[in-house]
Amino acid sequence: MFERLSLSTSFTLAHFSDPHLGPLPPAGWRSLANKRLSGFLSWTRNRVKIHRSDILALLTEDLARQPVDHVAITGDLVNISLPGEFSAAAAWLRTIGTPDRVTVIPGNHDAYVNVAWSQSLALWADYMRGARTPTGPETLPGSMTDFPFIRRLGPIALVGTSTALPMPVFVAAGRLGPAQCDRLRAQLKQLGTEGLFRVVLIHHPPFGGGAYKRKALLDASKFQAVLAEAGAEMVIHGHTHVSGLARATTPAGTIPVIGVPSASAIAAGHKDPARYHLYRIERTADSWSLDVEIRGLSAAADGFERQGSMALTIPLLSLPPRATPPGTATAAVA
Ligand SMILES: [Fe+2]
Ligand SMILES: [Fe+2]
Repeated sequence: MFERLSLSTSFTLAHFSDPHLGPLPPAGWRSLANKRLSGFLSWTRNRVKIHRSDILALLTEDLARQPVDHVAITGDLVNISLPGEFSAAAAWLRTIGTPDRVTVIPGNHDAYVNVAWSQSLALWADYMRGARTPTGPETLPGSMTDFPFIRRLGPIALVGTSTALPMPVFVAAGRLGPAQCDRLRAQLKQLGTEGLFRVVLIHHPPFGGGAYKRKALLDASKFQAVLAEAGAEMVIHGHTHVSGLARATTPAGTIPVIGVPSASAIAAGHKDPARYHLYRIERTADSWSLDVEIRGLSAAADGFERQGSMALTIPLLSLPPRATPPGTATAAVA
């Protein structure tokens, strides 16, 4: 369990993603008679060699030694959405921390096929507890329509989205949907007026995907328009299994969009080995300072170590002077 810091104007948020917990529980052929079959074959032939529980354990052990206030996990906890995977993931989550210290959002593998809410994400609902409106009470989500949710943590507000929904075989795309975009816009606007450091959690990177459309956020342009209109201080995501720093452009400036590789991966192909991030957020007189520490798997794969850092300055007032019509936002990969 990680050490707690006092909540003041500085805050340390840890971020990891895509643990793809194994092993797969026993699965009868009936439960695999759908998209799960391709995922099952992919796991047993390939992914089981890449996503290793011993690597994930090294990461969480290193994280437990860091002084952090809260942990964010941006999806793909499981692989093919078997009910047994959700219950195993719920037990694993409890080893990371209590629900008041850990926030989770789902990824596409957590909605690989249609599974009853009660047998799937309901088992992690404590970790997605939050307010549906900026002034509302915190409640447990009861379905995918209860996203985004807001968690207020001292000087920061986490806004957890869901881009997870079942897709056809070999498609790993995601979508927020217009209703969720509308709720997100209203939430970010209100939280912005309170001067909070708004962190949007989203599984898919909020860009079109280019050549990788089958893995992309399908309504990325709508999400960018929400950011342009309502503002945010940082967006964090997973899904790509590579490190990434991009910037979403808004009339008030750019918003850092930061991705982490899978938390359980060895280096394989064009994917990065496991890493996690520590975001040290501090309010200064006229801005936010954001110090990002990157901690990654050592070359000998026997532990995690500091592998880099970057210091960013985020303007205090990120709300643009006036609303921007949807579709005018642009984003560029740095
Ligand atoms: Fe993933
Ligand atoms: Fe994913």
